[in-house]
Amino acid sequence: MAAGIDDIALYIPRLFVDSADFARARGLDPAKLKTGLGISKMAIVDANQDPACLAANACLKLMQKNKIAPKDIGRLYVATESALDESKALNSYVIGMLEQVYGTDSFEHCGGIECKFACVSGSYALYDNCNWIRAGEAEGKSAIVVVSDIAKYDLGSAGEYTQGAGSIAMLLNDSPRLLQFDSKVTSTSIKNEYDFYRPFGKETPIVHGQYSNLLYLIQVKKAFESYKKKALESKLIKLKEGETILDHIDYLCMHLPYSTMGKKALAYLLRREWRHLPRWKQIVEQTGMDEPAPRNPRGTIESILADDEYMGKDHEFTRLFTKTKEFQQFYDDKLASSLVASAMIGNLYTASLYLGLRSCLEFEFQKGVDLEGKRIGFGSYGSGSSAMVFSGVIQPAYRELVKDMNIEAEIGQRRKLSLEEYEEIHENRRGPHQSLLEAKKEFVLVNVEKSPESRGERKYAFYD
Ligand code: CAA
Repeated sequence: MAAGIDDIALYIPRLFVDSADFARARGLDPAKLKTGLGISKMAIVDANQDPACLAANACLKLMQKNKIAPKDIGRLYVATESALDESKALNSYVIGMLEQVYGTDSFEHCGGIECKFACVSGSYALYDNCNWIRAGEAEGKSAIVVVSDIAKYDLGSAGEYTQGAGSIAMLLNDSPRLLQFDSKVTSTSIKNEYDFYRPFGKETPIVHGQYSNLLYLIQVKKAFESYKKKALESKLIKLKEGETILDHIDYLCMHLPYSTMGKKALAYLLRREWRHLPRWKQIVEQTGMDEPAPRNPRGTIESILADDEYMGKDHEFTRLFTKTKEFQQFYDDKLASSLVASAMIGNLYTASLYLGLRSCLEFEFQKGVDLEGKRIGFGSYGSGSSAMVFSGVIQPAYRELVKDMNIEAEIGQRRKLSLEEYEEIHENRRGPHQSLLEAKKEFVLVNVEKSPESRGERKYAFYD
């Protein structure tokens, strides 16, 4: 049985920090953020927003747009790494908010959980819910998977310029109008790691930045190897002499903690795919240098990162490789459109990959490309760590949905924060009643209970 994404809706907070203002305030070159990391704006939550109300807002938009009633939904999953409680699942807050609009107990029949595995958990949630549909358990109902996060790092840290916030809700069913997932090729890799993690009670993560970058590349590559094997064995993709499987994937969407990470991941994968093909000789000639190899190719990530000579040469080779016409063509045709929204919004952790999908659809459609039948490959990564690689095909009915996509219009009028305002919000010096923006047709947080017997109970309201 088929399964996939029928429609997608997003909710992005309207407050933002401009990356040039931010760079100046931290004594950084604005070009480092704009071109080095591909960040121009970071969406920031208002004082009355949390990951639950972001998720409920995305969900409400999805339901209203598609005229879906709660009775049509069999499962509502929320994937996040910004959990509000060690026990109570984020989807229960979301259901509480949605019932303010649809009526008490209107979701009573609906199942679901909160999923956690850093940024990759949304992909696991999609996979599990698609399998629920494929197994014939859905009884004609749809599933909703919501990915919702606030990417927040310590003030003054290297992670601080890779922040962002937002939520994406995806409607899944057995006759998806947007994207049907390829079955039996989804592949994963997993390893116990401490590249990025957030111990209990800590609001911001502990991050080993360069380690996390390299681990992301290695884990996605491992999952990709397994995907390749499955795609070839199942004959989903057939290769001719001199081809790589990536020649048969029309678009790539990668996890995007910042937009240039997509380009880094593409360069890493292509180097390893093209290295064994006849085209490689001509590509290396364009770089004017030999491709470097680490002293110990089987060494640990620490030993590779500590090999300064290799790291320097590898960085230079990658820079030159990304300037070759073959890379440029691949990048422009298959990846660039998915990176546009990330630069406008920032890191959404679990939702970053799916913001990339939204961006790819909107900006490729704007180029006038016929997307029907195009295959999208996904590279999902979650610190800690696990990667998931999978693919899907754009369906004939996509036009009716994609023609109306407009990320800027969907965010609404944005308000730039001064650095003082941003730091006030970041340091939680404003309570829910001291928001900077007035809520419009959205859920907001109105109170967090402090009394010992109800500590942590959160109240939300819908403002029409
Ligand atoms: N002008 C133009 N570009 C410049 C520049 C300038 N003046 N100065 C530096 N740059 C470029 C650098 O060359 C580099 O690009 P390349 O790697 O392509 O050469 C880029 O800007 C970044 O520079 P650095 O690597 O020196 O940046 P940094 O040390 O400040 O750290 C970071 C970057 C590691 C991503 C850091 O922001 C961080 O720790 N972020 C949080 C962790 C993270 O996002 N990890 C990603 C993988 S893990 C993951 O994906 C899960 C998740 O969501 C967190």
